[in-house]
Amino acid sequence: MNFSQQNMALLIILLVITNCYILCKSTDPTDGFTNVQLTEENFKIQRPYDVPLEERYSYQNGTHRLWVYADDKPHDPNSNTQPRTEIRITGLDYSSGVWQFEGHAFVPNGTSGATILQIHGASKGATTIILRIYGGEMRYYSGQVIATDLYDKWFRINLIHDVDEGNVTVFLEGVQVFATGDQGPGDLYFKCGVYAAPANISYYMESRWRDIKIYKKCG
Ligand SMILES: *[C@@H]1O[C@H](CO)[C@@H](O)[C@H](O)[C@H]1NC(C)=O
Ligand SMILES: *[C@@H]1O[C@H](CO)[C@@H](O)[C@H](O)[C@H]1NC(C)=O
Ligand SMILES: *[C@@H]1O[C@H](CO)[C@@H](O)[C@H](O)[C@H]1NC(C)=O
Ligand SMILES: *[C@@H]1O[C@H](CO)[C@@H](O)[C@H](O)[C@H]1NC(C)=O
Repeated sequence: MNFSQQNMALLIILLVITNCYILCKSTDPTDGFTNVQLTEENFKIQRPYDVPLEERYSYQNGTHRLWVYADDKPHDPNSNTQPRTEIRITGLDYSSGVWQFEGHAFVPNGTSGATILQIHGASKGATTIILRIYGGEMRYYSGQVIATDLYDKWFRINLIHDVDEGNVTVFLEGVQVFATGDQGPGDLYFKCGVYAAPANISYYMESRWRDIKIYKKCG
């Protein structure tokens, strides 16, 4: 091969690689979204009002650990809601557009009847979506089963809320597992941790979270 043949061969190889990269690259739920910078200020912890934070929450080595007991008090003395220890994403409430929550979650075997991720706010009712663990399964509220066999392992979860189109989509390990309509616009925000369901709850509830990110679709 002379010099120009070599160059031509290199060029062809380059074109093949580039095309394959564009065509074969797997899609990701965050494609087309912009990462919103988060600081500690964006993480507000809600916990039973009468116990110190360190008795229901820890943050070590990048992992948030949140736990609660079935007979705990609500997060506020004036509230009559179920017990919770939750991270409420604050400062990023939204009422329009397309927003996405991403996190890596871990639920220890035994935690049951616990909402681990929700979008709070809606025009109908208090929430847009509730994702609950019952016996290792993830359910939409106490209804449809979205995933099974989730105990004692880390899983990546992405939750997209398209307020303008009125739908929510759930991804596990980057794969869409559930989609449904939302409950109408409102003062909307993401929460993760453990929030006891009205019934069928284990005495102890815990979830752990790493690499929590918020994304927004621009344009
Ligand atoms: C800290 O987290 C990293 C993952 O980001 C993990 O590989 C490492 O084992 C953890 N260290 C401890 C002491 O838990
Ligand atoms: C969870 O714990 C129960 C009781 O110890 C056990 O029977 C079950 O196999 C465990 N499940 C998993 C997924 O480890
Ligand atoms: C809750 O418990 C009741 C009674 O044991 C049972 O019939 C029902 O299927 C349970 N619901 C869920 C979501 O596990
Ligand atoms: C959300 O709604 C829009 C408009 O109706 C639709 O194009 C899109 O496919 C929906 N997404 C899901 C996941 O259902």
